[in-house]
Amino acid sequence: MTDAGQNIESVLQEDRKFPPSSEFSAQANISSEQQYLEMWNKGKDDPAGFWGELAKENLAWFKEFDSVMDGEMPETKWFTGGKINASYQCLDRHLTGPRKNKAAIIWEGEPGDQRILTYQQLHHEVCKFANVLKKLGIETGDRVTIYMPMVPELAIAMLACARLGAVHSIVFGGFSADAIADRNHDAESKLVITADGGWRRGKEIPLKATVDEAMEKSPTVENVVVYRRTGGDVNMVPDRDYWWHDLMEDVDADCPAVELDSEHPLFILYTSGSTGKPKGVLHTTAGYMLGATMTSKWVFDLKEDDTYWCTADIGWITGHSYITYGPLSNGTTSLMYEGAPNWPDEGRFWNIVEKSQVNIFYTAPTAIRAFIKWGDQWPSQYDLSSLRLLGTVGEPINPEAWMWYHKVIGNEKCPIVDTWWQTETGGIMLSPLPGVTATKPGSCTKPLPGVVPAIVTEEGEPVTEGGGLLVMTQPWPHMLRTVYGDHDRFIETYFSKFDGKYYFAGDGARIDDDGYYWVMGRVDDVLNVSGHRLSTMEVESALVAHDNVAEAAVVGFPHELKGEGICCFVTLKSGDGSDEEKEELKQHVRKQIGAIATPDKIKIAPALPKTRSGKIMRRLLRDIAAGRDVSGDVTTLEDNTILEKLREDD
Ligand code: WT7
Repeated sequence: MTDAGQNIESVLQEDRKFPPSSEFSAQANISSEQQYLEMWNKGKDDPAGFWGELAKENLAWFKEFDSVMDGEMPETKWFTGGKINASYQCLDRHLTGPRKNKAAIIWEGEPGDQRILTYQQLHHEVCKFANVLKKLGIETGDRVTIYMPMVPELAIAMLACARLGAVHSIVFGGFSADAIADRNHDAESKLVITADGGWRRGKEIPLKATVDEAMEKSPTVENVVVYRRTGGDVNMVPDRDYWWHDLMEDVDADCPAVELDSEHPLFILYTSGSTGKPKGVLHTTAGYMLGATMTSKWVFDLKEDDTYWCTADIGWITGHSYITYGPLSNGTTSLMYEGAPNWPDEGRFWNIVEKSQVNIFYTAPTAIRAFIKWGDQWPSQYDLSSLRLLGTVGEPINPEAWMWYHKVIGNEKCPIVDTWWQTETGGIMLSPLPGVTATKPGSCTKPLPGVVPAIVTEEGEPVTEGGGLLVMTQPWPHMLRTVYGDHDRFIETYFSKFDGKYYFAGDGARIDDDGYYWVMGRVDDVLNVSGHRLSTMEVESALVAHDNVAEAAVVGFPHELKGEGICCFVTLKSGDGSDEEKEELKQHVRKQIGAIATPDKIKIAPALPKTRSGKIMRRLLRDIAAGRDVSGDVTTLEDNTILEKLREDD
């Protein structure tokens, strides 16, 4: 294993097992072990047959594909010859039957305002906004940046892009102006869609002002569309900036979906890696839509009358696949909430569950840990009996948090699906099937049908005992196709480690005697902060961009709520690092990347611990950051006194 690999601690031996109830199994979309095994074996032995049949049955084709898969991983192309449109798949298809007047989106704003859009109404808005895009000169293949709060118009904007075959690049509303500008630049976006602001914990988060700052460094962007959400003051630049509502007045709702090739790019979503700037993960239309559609149906066991709520932000892949594309493709009612879980009080989520009679609830371990800290008195004030299925995503869930979720939220009757996947995988890869799999707290259990993982050594040999590296041995339709503008980096990052044979996920994992997978965390220099990936390198470059920073090393440490916290070891050019200076450095990183990257600890170091060859010894820094005794070999350390000094600065 690598240096980082040695730090992966296997989760405690966990023997508890929770099989689904016979009532749940009886009604489930996949309802028996035998059915699962048949599907899984078919997916492994005959992937073209397996995915081809699903694609014919579950996707609406303008023209059916000629072949299911062409070429070896990583260059596999899917559904060649087919013509399709993701917006048509999510909307038009539902307008001829009883789903026409069914709620597509139930939305709640943080101040308490509510809107419901039926499939027909959502279709109407999407068609109109697609015509707005056309008027602004957006054509098939153009890139459009979306930087919005969690309002229905965010989903409308993405589906309008998809309708024309314009490629959306959504930037999470918590990112900074520099982060937006970098992404605008990398994708060569022509347009930015934003809002005046959004609501978070009772405060207005200004978005347009941040976009204005980004626009100073975004030469490819010609126009900005601004949705009015908060009513706050904004600066509108003449002939560049337009109000959403003004533009919508001048268009009609007639906008046929463009018939696109299966492999037409659907979106770019930037994500952090261990080296370099964020990677523009590119997903294409048919394969991604098939993955989002099938995994939603299997894992969330979607039924016609379900109210389904995924609490993620659409700015992350979870929201792309499991608020917008997956649920809407299945004709589901998808609930969307704008704000914080503790506003006006810590009962907000449970209030929403009761009021909307939510049946399926999908959230992150970091949120569950916050609920636990706030106390059982919040959920216990509400009737949560509508819930029938719970899910988690983003990081390994600690068994105690799993048990709390099971007991306090699920009342011991809801299966919990712990879903492992990544921005790059497009959809869920490893997860219990709620009507089939006996769950174990902390394990994402087994691969879904069509997914063939393995755990291997650094040399690519199968691991039979203990931990190793998690890889995928077969291509799948919803796999990323490239890193936008840098195909070499795509190959290098995901496929070079095992000579193109496997997709390397970057996670360490082990399999237990029952064949269950236990994901143990990243093996590279990637932090998982509140279920989101951040690269230590990005935080380091933000720090050294500060005038007074000579050198910086960033490591993660166990954090009660966030999973991992950010600890920065910094050597300064001058001064000894007062509390004010540390605070300034924190704010500096926050400004450069965004609030999610705000360091938890800054430690001023006279020098960083290095090997004689000059490599920073991160293993030592991780021990110090976690308050552990420094373990392992320190004999290669150049200057032994440094460790003491680092420990002192707390
Ligand atoms: C990384 C992917 C997929 C949407 C959210 C994050 C970690 C994700 C689990 C899980 C253990 C998990 C992995 C993965 N991860 N889900 N159920 N159990 N770890 O997407 O930002 O692309 O991050 O999140 O380390 O590689 P992402």
